Amino acid sequence: MKTKIFYFTGTGNTLKLAKDLAAELGDTELVRIRYDMEYDQTDCDAAGIAYPVYCFVQPNIVTNFINNVKFRENIYIFGLASYGGLLAGSGIKLKKLLAKRGYVLNAGFAVNMPGNATTVYDVLPEEKRNAMYAKESTRIKEIASMVRNRETREIETNKGLLGRLMTAVGPMMMKGINKSAKAFTVDETCDSCGICENVCPVNNIVITDGEPVWSDKCECCLACFHWCPKAAIQAGKKTASRGRYHHPEASLPDMYTR
Ligand SMILES: Cc1cc2nc3c(=O)[nH]c(=O)nc-3n(C[C@H](O)[C@H](O)[C@H](O)COP(=O)(O)O)c2cc1C
Repeated sequence: MKTKIFYFTGTGNTLKLAKDLAAELGDTELVRIRYDMEYDQTDCDAAGIAYPVYCFVQPNIVTNFINNVKFRENIYIFGLASYGGLLAGSGIKLKKLLAKRGYVLNAGFAVNMPGNATTVYDVLPEEKRNAMYAKESTRIKEIASMVRNRETREIETNKGLLGRLMTAVGPMMMKGINKSAKAFTVDETCDSCGICENVCPVNNIVITDGEPVWSDKCECCLACFHWCPKAAIQAGKKTASRGRYHHPEASLPDMYTR
C-alpha cells in the first residue's frame, strides 16, 4: 500500500518539499490538488497534504479537497505546510476540517521557505534563500523518518500572541481571496506568450486580444505574476521594481495544468 502526497503550489516551494519527501519515503505518488480531480483516494494507506500557507491557513482549493476527498478508514494523514514567515495555526484549521470529515490529522509539519507574497514585500536576497534551501533538505529527512514510523505529533504552530491572533483572522482574509486578481494589471512588456494562462492552476486566465484577462476564481497563488518571463504583471505601483520568484528546481512544465 502506498503513500500519496497531495500538493498545491504556485511558485514551486511546496512542490519541492513534496518531491523531496516522496524521494525519501519511496513508493510515494505525488498528486496535484485540483478542482477537477479524482476524490476517491481510498487506494493509499498514508496521505500527505502539502500546501503553501495563505493568510495563516490553507488555500481555498485545499479546503475544497479536504471537504470532498474520500480516504480509507484509519488512514495516516500528515500536513506539510510551506510558509514564508508566519505560520500561525494553519495546521490547526486543517485538523478541524479533517475532523469534520471523520479523519485525523496525525501530524502537521511546517517548513520555512522563501516568501512569495511579492505583492506585499520584495523577494528575499539570494543568500537568505539559499540558507533556507539548505535547512529544507535536513528537515525533510527528519519529517520522512517521522512519517515512515507513522508518528503522531503535535501540529506545528506559532504559539505567540501574533500567531494566535492571525489564526483567528486568517479565515476572514481568505473569504475575498478569489477576487484578488482584480488587483492585477499588465504593462506594455507583455508579449502575449500565454505562460500566465498555462500556469494558472484553476484556469482563471484567458488571453484575450493579446493580454491576460482574469476571472473571479483566483487562488492568489501568484503563479501568473511570478512565472511571467517579462515580469509584465503588476499588482499596484510597487511591484514593477520588485523581483519575481520561483523555486530554482521548479520548471514551467511542472507548473502547467492543461
Ligand atoms: C496570498 C499569499 C498569502 C500568503 N500568506 C502567508 C502567511 O500567512 N504566512 C506565511 O508565512 N507565508 C505566507 N505566504 C508565503 C507562502 O506561504 C510561501 O512563500 C510558500 O512557500 C509558497 O509556496 P509555493 O511556492 O508552493 O506556492 C503567502 C503567499 C501568498 C501568495
